[in-house]
Amino acid sequence: MLSGSRPMSTRYTEGLLGHRTYGEYDRLLLLEQMCDPGTIRVLEHVPMAPDWHCAEVGAGTGGMARWLAERCPDGQVTATDLDTHFLDSAPRPGNLRVSQQDVTTTDFPTASLDLVHARAVLTHLPAPEQIVQRMTHWLKPGGWLVIEDPTYLPAEGSPYPDFARLLTACEKLLAQTNGTDSSWARRIPAAMAAAGLTDLKMSAELSACGRDKTEDQYWRQCFIQATPALLASGLITEPQIRRAISHLDQPAFSDAGWLMVSCRARKNHQ
Ligand SMILES: C[S@@+](CC[C@H](N)C(=O)[O-])C[C@H]1O[C@@H](n2cnc3c(N)ncnc32)[C@H](O)[C@@H]1O
Repeated sequence: MLSGSRPMSTRYTEGLLGHRTYGEYDRLLLLEQMCDPGTIRVLEHVPMAPDWHCAEVGAGTGGMARWLAERCPDGQVTATDLDTHFLDSAPRPGNLRVSQQDVTTTDFPTASLDLVHARAVLTHLPAPEQIVQRMTHWLKPGGWLVIEDPTYLPAEGSPYPDFARLLTACEKLLAQTNGTDSSWARRIPAAMAAAGLTDLKMSAELSACGRDKTEDQYWRQCFIQATPALLASGLITEPQIRRAISHLDQPAFSDAGWLMVSCRARKNHQ
């Protein structure tokens, strides 16, 4: 599973989070249930118009793309992904187009979009700063870029060392196999500023493990899906994984999963 010299797109699609990996569809649906309400709160701050043209990059199972399509009934939403079969198999409104695209190599026409949104995508990609630059070119003057990616609180602060060890092992595994960089979330505002975007706002939503049924289901699904690769990597042992997951069954358990950092900024009217 090590990333080696495999091309970027193959590294993702054939890796732990590839859409053909057993359980990935369920994990992405849970991710949507967990994160869409927070993303909608962020997008409610963007002054969207019904005729906007939007791109949902790395759309996964398409929850946010469908929401954008409802908000822009007279416009058009393009949902892109490396692998579109989850998007193709769901019913969609007429103003929602699905396009199989690798964001590291494929561009939208310059100044063609009012809004570009990507959640939990750039963290997995090399040179995310360059992608922010390219996405900025796709925006019309006055258009908005909204980027969201997760990061983790320091493991040492957790009152549940077993649970924190498992989270850290998952973070390391994704770094080794997918090249995922969870420190990227903190660099998003600087990348947006360097791309010339203005009116930058930043917020974050904490995923609280042990406090919410959907979030617990999400994390359980992540851990179960990652177990074979975690064991093969030697990052953690099976009893350690079992002890960590068992916390999710204990009513008093509560710990931080990740912080989903959201940044929105606007391209200047020239
Ligand atoms: C962790 S999932 C997040 C899905 C969705 N954005 C969400 O938050 O619910 C990452 C998504 O990005 C897609 N992806 C990964 N690399 C990509 C690339 N280079 N170009 C386009 N999509 C990509 C994956 O196929 C996957 O659907």
